[in-house]
Amino acid sequence: VLILGIETSCDETAAAIVRDGKRILSNVIASQAAAHQIYGGVVPELASREHLLRLPLVIQQAVSEARVAMGQLDAIAVTQGPGLIGALLVGIHTAKGLAVGLGRPLIPVNHIEAHLYAAMMAEKPPFPALGVVVSGGHTALLLIEQLGHYRLISSTVDDAIGEAFDKVAALLGLPYPGGPALERLARGGDPARYSLRAGQVKNHPFAFSFSGLKTSVLYVAKGVGSDKRAPLKIGEEELAHLAASFQEAALTDLVTKIEGAAAAYGCRALVLGGGVTQNQRLRALLARSALPAFWPAAGLSLDNAAMIAGLAYHCSAASLDFRAEAQLKPFWLN
Ligand code: KG4
Ligand code: ZN
Repeated sequence: VLILGIETSCDETAAAIVRDGKRILSNVIASQAAAHQIYGGVVPELASREHLLRLPLVIQQAVSEARVAMGQLDAIAVTQGPGLIGALLVGIHTAKGLAVGLGRPLIPVNHIEAHLYAAMMAEKPPFPALGVVVSGGHTALLLIEQLGHYRLISSTVDDAIGEAFDKVAALLGLPYPGGPALERLARGGDPARYSLRAGQVKNHPFAFSFSGLKTSVLYVAKGVGSDKRAPLKIGEEELAHLAASFQEAALTDLVTKIEGAAAAYGCRALVLGGGVTQNQRLRALLARSALPAFWPAAGLSLDNAAMIAGLAYHCSAASLDFRAEAQLKPFWLN
């Protein structure tokens, strides 16, 4: 079964062709980072326009790299949400048009579920597994009983972990996208230099809170009570120590809760998805864990359409009147 996947939920314009849910024939990603960089973050309207410009070519490239003809496609899959509404609409309407034109079924896919699927595409983990979503928009732990059968264990009460990396990077004067830049800066720093801690949520031992941690970084970098636009009051060397201390606090909190939840729910493996899985310090911390960890393969960590086309193989087609979903739909209740 050959599926064309389309992903336009945020600032990557992506199309991919996947056979039988696992064999990736092409995985084309056009990043818009350069267009948003001068604004220090993603500008939604700009993202929609960039998708409009790029998506037709990205799809053509995915088809030609896969060496298939449009007529050979068995279905079209597209990210339904969560994401930026205008950005999602570009992908969804393109997909609907293709599905009608080719006379093929259309399969809407949940972006967050697809991030988890990315790590299960090559090899299925033993179930039950603990699903760990660590992206720019979401942070959550889920019990994966089987592919397609999930229970939500916990999520963040404020910032997502990737968002915290991005905001802290911006505070420290690093360019967008902040997560990778912050990890690079942290490499030269001492993680024990500042004692920082991520938040705990009363009565929810596995829930996350990163906004207090972000404020602690602000106060160290710019002075207690200062505004995030205030000038930095520490030098380059201290900045690296601060980045390392922040990263260590955020990641050790994540790892502690992952291990606690995995034990509490009898999980036999960890399945990780989302952009923060690119972080090498996180991979090193979890390498010490007793459970096997399943990570997305190269090219499947950040937003991509291969995970959309792959997961779609296991989902059902929809009628053409489904809508974009900007907010996270609880796919674990399916
Ligand atoms: O999954 P993703 O591509 O988009 C969403 O669906 O949100 O994740 C992007 C997020 C951004 O917040 C980015 O800063 C973060 O992943 N990220 C990282 C690293 N690489 C990307 N965070 C920490 N360390 C990294 N190396
Ligand atoms: Zn994503």
